[in-house]
Amino acid sequence: SILSQDELKKIAAFRAVDFVESGMVVGLGTGSTARHAVDRIGHLLRQGKLRDVVGIPTSRVTHDQALSLGIPLSDLDSHPVVDLAIDGADEVDPSLNLVKGRGGSLLREKMVEGACKKFVVIVDESKLVDYIGGSGLAMPVEVIKFCWKYTAEQLRSLFDYAGCRAKLRMSVGKEEEEEPFVTDNGNYVVDLYFERDIGDSWAASDAILRLAGVVEHGMFLGMASTVIVAGELGVRMINR
Ligand code: A5P
Repeated sequence: SILSQDELKKIAAFRAVDFVESGMVVGLGTGSTARHAVDRIGHLLRQGKLRDVVGIPTSRVTHDQALSLGIPLSDLDSHPVVDLAIDGADEVDPSLNLVKGRGGSLLREKMVEGACKKFVVIVDESKLVDYIGGSGLAMPVEVIKFCWKYTAEQLRSLFDYAGCRAKLRMSVGKEEEEEPFVTDNGNYVVDLYFERDIGDSWAASDAILRLAGVVEHGMFLGMASTVIVAGELGVRMINR
């Protein structure tokens, strides 16, 4: 192939930033695709092509990136209405339902992107799936630390019919030792893997959220307004 996956991500990201106008409150996503959009917004502000943009970051990492680029930042407490949010995704299904959170920032992403008038999702074509969970990659669920094993087993058994496995997300700590990954909000992440289609994703969402130990999950249903897909043959824009 001619373009690397990172170049495709950058193409999608730059196209999304075309939607940003001066004076907007903009939700800043997290991950290797969204990173390019944040860079681009910083660049346009420095050039004076954009003015008075306020960024609402969806993670500490994005907060720090935006700060270093000089993008003025705020939060939902001060700016409860977000004009536009731009973020990547791990999976996009044909109805523009998403899986997000492989980067672990799903909770803040869902709060900011749930508050926005327009949510533009940027992906390379490898993220397109036939159904939620269809990539075989993790569907993350943020859970409180208290009795996380109990919650993980509750999650697994909800999706027994789909051959579900539940795994606590780990990260490599200081002494090369694996330790549980901790979110920006001080919680753990349980990654769900499915052997088969889980079926109705709205029903799955409700069932997950009914568990007391669950804080939020990585299915973003009915939230995306536009998905920008960059592929070898060009850029496609899918509207809901
Ligand atoms: C972060 O928690 C995620 O939701 C990311 O937006 C998602 O994982 C996509 O990341 P990449 O753009 O790095 O693939």
